[in-house]
Amino acid sequence: MATAAVVYESITGVTERFGEAIGEHLRSRGVEATVISIGDCDPATLDAHDLVLIGCWTSGLFVVGQHPDREWVAFTRMIPTLRHPRVGLFTTYRLATGSMFRRMRRALEPTGAAVTLELKSRDGRLAEGHRADLDAWLAAAGIGGEGRTPGR
Ligand SMILES: Cc1cc2nc3c(=O)[nH]c(=O)nc-3n(C[C@H](O)[C@H](O)[C@H](O)COP(=O)(O)O)c2cc1C
Repeated sequence: MATAAVVYESITGVTERFGEAIGEHLRSRGVEATVISIGDCDPATLDAHDLVLIGCWTSGLFVVGQHPDREWVAFTRMIPTLRHPRVGLFTTYRLATGSMFRRMRRALEPTGAAVTLELKSRDGRLAEGHRADLDAWLAAAGIGGEGRTPGR
């Protein structure tokens, strides 16, 4: 069974909810998904997973200067080289994500990760578009489908 780590940083709970919803969807597709906060996650374990999704709330001046939180960036600095997993990013926001994903990608550059998915949400709910993006991502990795209800 493929495994996934969904790692998030969340202050008021929206990004946590989004991470939980992502994890639940992955489980519905037969992936063994662990959803965990950056404070509880041992970064050294991430390379063992097939999929790693790393999320953070959007910080900035609402219309400009979006960037990941300092704690999140500090966490990424402890991640060793990611040789094995496919890596995706997620964030929650109010108005605009702006430079958020670019800055998140830059923070992950030292890990060597090729980021192949970006998901963003205002309310932390997993919309149909998010599900479709996740399914396409899984299909590209040759993962998923086992947990689907026949006929759906
Ligand atoms: C200091 C601060 C700065 C923020 N900057 C932005 C921003 O630049 N753009 C935006 O869309 N939302 C911004 N937000 C809103 C948060 O990104 C949004 O509410 C997010 O869902 C919170 O996630 P959390 O509940 O996981 O902490 C900001 C919030 C705070 C507290």
